[in-house]
Amino acid sequence: MTVRESVFINEQEIPAENEFDANDLRSVHFVIYASINRVVQQEVFDTDTGRVMRPRKSETRSLPIGTVRIVPFPHAPHPVKGGRYLADELVNLEELDEETKQALEVVEQGGKDRKTSLHDGEEVYMKLGRLAVLKEFRGRGIAGQLIRRAVEWMKANPRYFSPSVKERGFEALGIDPERDARMMPKWRGLFCVHAQVSAIGVWKRAGFVVDEEMGRWWEEGIEHVGMFQRVDVKA
Ligand SMILES: CC(C)(COP(=O)(O)OP(=O)(O)OC[C@H]1O[C@@H](n2cnc3c(N)ncnc32)[C@H](O)[C@@H]1OP(=O)(O)O)[C@@H](O)C(=O)NCCC(=O)NCCS
Repeated sequence: MTVRESVFINEQEIPAENEFDANDLRSVHFVIYASINRVVQQEVFDTDTGRVMRPRKSETRSLPIGTVRIVPFPHAPHPVKGGRYLADELVNLEELDEETKQALEVVEQGGKDRKTSLHDGEEVYMKLGRLAVLKEFRGRGIAGQLIRRAVEWMKANPRYFSPSVKERGFEALGIDPERDARMMPKWRGLFCVHAQVSAIGVWKRAGFVVDEEMGRWWEEGIEHVGMFQRVDVKA
């Protein structure tokens, strides 16, 4: 949270109330730390003999310098092309074309999500997000380490989020989780990210591909694209 505060709130000027959201509570967060050594007290010499009277004191601190989170399904529908979102709310509905408005209505009435180049609109996916590295530590591949670690962890724990899905209310859907286990949405290895345009290269290097059909939209005034990656998950 301290990393996100420096990067998104102080640097990118996103309002704090939009930066920290309800998804934080159900996400898995990855944090990378740097060991920072600093001198807290200089050595003291005897001025006559030059001998050290008191040795230098230093301390090593673990400083959080980067973070990323995995938000499990379910997710809000894909953002609309050309949409402007503030705190996940679409604020320029009147500017959208008729086709987009109609598609949005279908989704809002409980229909399938829109089909994109890399997503069929139905398959459940994990969403990576809030990727941030402190300014002083950028350009060293730290973001890539975070993304790859999160992807590997999810591959190793593919059912980690399943209980929360159960709790979400299959009762409401008329599914008995014990009897109809096969009907439960199961994560099959798909990841999505809403990437800031300036960070596309970082996500590409970590295996993500831009979804052309998903288009471009703005979150908190920053232009975004959709990107996906699929990994093998053992049965
Ligand atoms: C995007 C971000 C997480 C990348 O972290 P990183 O650990 O620096 O990633 P990398 O080391 O792979 O470098 C990323 C790019 O920054 C460039 N870069 C190099 N030194 C840099 C520096 N001192 N400061 C900023 N960028 C630098 C790299 O050349 C690279 O460019 P490219 O992607 O065009 O090839 C980081 O810049 C950041 O926190 N930005 C602000 C928040 C943000 O945009 N998050 C992404 C949300 S999708």
